[in-house]
Parts: sequence; structure tokens; C-alpha cells
Amino acid sequence: MIPVSSPKTRPLMPRPQIARNGPVLSRMAYGTWRMLDDAPSAQDINRRLHLCLDLGVTTIDGAEIYGGYAQEAALGAAMALTPGLRDKLELVTKSGIYIPHTTAPGRRVAHYDATAKRLTECVDAALKRLGTDRIEVFLVHRPDWLTSIDDTANGLNALVKSGKIRSAGVSNYSPSQYAALNSCMESPLVTNQVEFSLLHMDPIFDGTFDQLQTERVRPMAWSPLAGGSLFDRNNPAALRLAKEAALISPKYGDASFEQLAYAWVMAHPCQPMPVIGTNRQERIQGAVEAMAITLDREDWFGLWVAAKGHGVP
Ligand SMILES: NC(=O)c1ccc[n+]([C@@H]2O[C@H](COP(=O)([O-])OP(=O)(O)OC[C@H]3O[C@@H](n4cnc5c(N)ncnc54)[C@H](OP(=O)(O)O)[C@@H]3O)[C@@H](O)[C@H]2O)c1
Repeated sequence: MIPVSSPKTRPLMPRPQIARNGPVLSRMAYGTWRMLDDAPSAQDINRRLHLCLDLGVTTIDGAEIYGGYAQEAALGAAMALTPGLRDKLELVTKSGIYIPHTTAPGRRVAHYDATAKRLTECVDAALKRLGTDRIEVFLVHRPDWLTSIDDTANGLNALVKSGKIRSAGVSNYSPSQYAALNSCMESPLVTNQVEFSLLHMDPIFDGTFDQLQTERVRPMAWSPLAGGSLFDRNNPAALRLAKEAALISPKYGDASFEQLAYAWVMAHPCQPMPVIGTNRQERIQGAVEAMAITLDREDWFGLWVAAKGHGVP
């Protein structure tokens, strides 16, 4: 593993704009999907936020549905423990997925809802839960097949105008769904948060990353370590990847498998922003160190080949 440098010696994490009209974010985001899995206290989460901040990971990715609809409130409580902490972070949150849950008695069927009315209600509630007056990036969590692009866009446009959200984007949208909604946006969408990793390469084949390059918009890459499947000893692709990673690791300062996996994600020219999913301090630190790795072309393709189990066409 690349040695973790101290905050004083570590190069500053680049802070690119996510899109021409989007806010400046950190090069990697900290994801909170699993944040409540180990039942942390507000103090525990606060410590994790400070660790991220010290490492230059200032963008925090959340969602209404995470943690059984409890993540935003938990994040808000943790931020509130340190005056001024919220202002040092950029908050990304998402709405639009509704599953049967104790917080919504009577809800029978899991469904999506990206109507203007629902998105507006969600943002108002999220602001309260997070204890803030604005959200830097608000995403529609999943495309809602039953809502017109005009309806969704009207909601997002009004929310941007109100200042409650600084910018709007989407998650899990196909290129055509993205283009359709974007055509109704007064201020273009700033990202599409999609699954992308060595074990899930769809965005490089289905037009998603071509479109985002055209739009000069950077994707956010969720599950950059394939949700942990990269380390599954029963997965033949994961085993091939581990072997290839071990082969090239010395060339990259003995980088770990996971660091090489992050570097592989970040190497794509559309500059995906990995959303870090681990709760473990040493793994968050290791992820950040991966920013220093620039994979050679052949090594990037070597990992591609190992993942697929065959050569390039
Ligand atoms: N937009 C969407 O629809 C969507 C969907 C899913 C996720 N997301 C976002 O993306 C973020 C990241 O997703 P993710 O959590 O799936 O990310 P991930 O980094 O692909 O997976 C994290 C999982 O991998 C495990 N892991 C990491 N390093 C490991 C290692 N060396 N050996 C074994 N296991 C290891 C972690 O366990 P430990 O915690 O023990 O390290 C954790 O369970 C989420 O928090 C969320 O913000 C968005």
C-alpha cells in the first residue's frame, strides 16, 4: 500500500468543477449509503467527516432513502456538532425512490417519483434534516418513467432559482433520458451519478460517458469497488483482477488492489468522481492516496482484460 502521507506533506486534492455551471467539488466524494451500518453515534460520524475534511474529501454524497430514510438526519446531527463544519463541505443528496418502510405506513409498492411536487417537498424536508439552507448538488435518484420531463424539469428549475439547491443532476439515467431532461433545464444538469467499476463497465459502452464528455460534465461513479465484490474470492473476474493488480503494483509504489481500482476508474477521460463507500478510516485514507496514481495505458487495458477474461475486440 502506498504510505499515507501526513496532511502537511500530502498534495492538495484537486478541486475541479463538476460541470461548467456546477459547483467546485473534491476529486472524490465520501458516500453515506453504508454510513449507518455500524450504528455510529453522531460523534462517530462527526469524526469521520473531520477525517474526510483533513484528507481533502469535502464532497459528501447522500440520499433521502439511505439508512432507511435516516441518513440525512444523522448527517445533519453530526455536522451540527462542529460549528462551521457544514460550510466546509459540499452536500450532494438525492430523492425519488420510495420503498415500503415504517416511516411511510400504507406504502405498498416500491416506486419512483420525480414529479415537481415531490422533488420540492423532498428538498424542503432534506434541508431541515441536514440543518442547512442549501444543497450544492441535488440529484433525481432514478428515472421515473411516469413523470414527464417538463414536470421534473419545472421542479428542478424552480429549486435552483429559489437557491435551495445550487445545481441539479441525475443518477442512473440512460443517455437518452439525460438528454431529454437536459433539454428542459434552464441551467444544464451537472452530473449523472452512475455505477462504474472494473466489474461494471456499462457507462463506457452504452454512450453514458461519451455524452458526458460532449456536455463537459463529470460523472460521479458509485460503487467504485463494485460494492466490495472486487474482493470476493469466489468471483473469477475478481481473482483475475487481483492477480493482475499484484503484477503491476510494484510499478505504482506497491499500490493496493483497491487503490489501483480507484485509479482505473479515475483514468477515464470524462474524469469520473469515485464515491468512496467504506466506513473504515484506513481505507478512506488509502482511497485518497490513489489520486496520485496515473496508470499507464497498457496497465489500464491489462486490468480491463483481466476483468473481462478476454482481450480487447
Ligand atoms: N446513485 C445510486 O444509485 C447509488 C447506488 C449505490 C451507491 N451509491 C453511492 O456510492 C457510494 C459508494 O458505494 P459502495 O458503498 O457500494 O462503494 P464501494 O467502494 O464499491 O463498496 C464499498 C464496500 O466495499 C467494501 N470494501 C472496501 N474495500 C474492501 C477491501 N479491501 N476488502 C473487502 N471489502 C472492501 C466495504 O467494506 P468496509 O466498509 O468494511 O470497508 C464496503 O462494504 C455509496 O455510499 C453511495 O453514496 C449511489
